[in-house]
Amino acid sequence: MGEQQEEFAIRVRDLVVGFGRQTVLDHLSLDVRRGEILGLVGASGGGKSVLMRTIIGLIPRRSGTIEVMGQPIGGRTQGAATAWGILFQQGALFSSLTVRQNVQFPLRENLVLSQELMDEIAIAKLEMVGLRAQDADKYPAELSGGMTKRVALARALALDPPILFLDEPTSGLDPIAAGDFDALIGTLQKTLGLTVFMVTHDLASLTTVCDRVAALADGKIVAIGPMRELLQSEHPWVRAYFHGKRSQMLQHEMR
Ligand SMILES: Nc1ncnc2c1ncn2[C@@H]1O[C@H](COP(=O)(O)OP(=O)(O)OP(=O)(O)O)[C@@H](O)[C@H]1O
Ligand SMILES: [Mg+2]
Repeated sequence: MGEQQEEFAIRVRDLVVGFGRQTVLDHLSLDVRRGEILGLVGASGGGKSVLMRTIIGLIPRRSGTIEVMGQPIGGRTQGAATAWGILFQQGALFSSLTVRQNVQFPLRENLVLSQELMDEIAIAKLEMVGLRAQDADKYPAELSGGMTKRVALARALALDPPILFLDEPTSGLDPIAAGDFDALIGTLQKTLGLTVFMVTHDLASLTTVCDRVAALADGKIVAIGPMRELLQSEHPWVRAYFHGKRSQMLQHEMR
């Protein structure tokens, strides 16, 4: 193993983020290893999306440090967009742009490429996420929920980022589509060597694709490790989350 900065894709130390009188993240620390798929769970409104948006520089922090790929992320400065791909929770595609144009959007914003090359890249990315070239000329309103997620993923991959941020990528999908999407993430992580930071409530995703799971409660990471370790956690919120009635039923069925 090399230096520490080689080992971690993301390092967060003592992060404090709030809005007005509300403190959302309260001295939170978290390391994401290079090449891993890290799942993040936490109560609704607990600050998962805020954490993700702060790491990518969209929300200012009050204190603490963040490093992405060994580079400090400034309090105000935007990080290099090429360092990550993002699939937002409200993963809206631009409704007035075609699938192809949506996938090309980050390319246009960040690079100067010929139309021909951009078309080639868009088709390659769509195929990478399991869509067909014929889908490229559709508009978002003409897509199914699963296809929409895949297009958003293709757009997130447009600039070949080493890190992928996914905010509830399988929410709203049926279990089969969600399973397919998870498998796709796993394949991309392996073939592209991606680091994936994934916010999810989906127990199946946590169990099948995540190398480690982190639990956010009271503004901090209160448990982190492989899923089987999280299931042993004594933390009250983590216990309630994984051993509450609803998840008990699910886990029973998953056996
Ligand atoms: N831009 C903002 N301005 C003010 N408050 C915000 C802003 N963004 C988030 N918040 C507040 O921060 C808290 C955490 O929100 P966040 O979206 O991170 O929750 P979450 O953990 O992602 O929840 P969910 O699982 O429902 O998506 C909430 O109380 C929310 O109202
Ligand atoms: Mg959220």
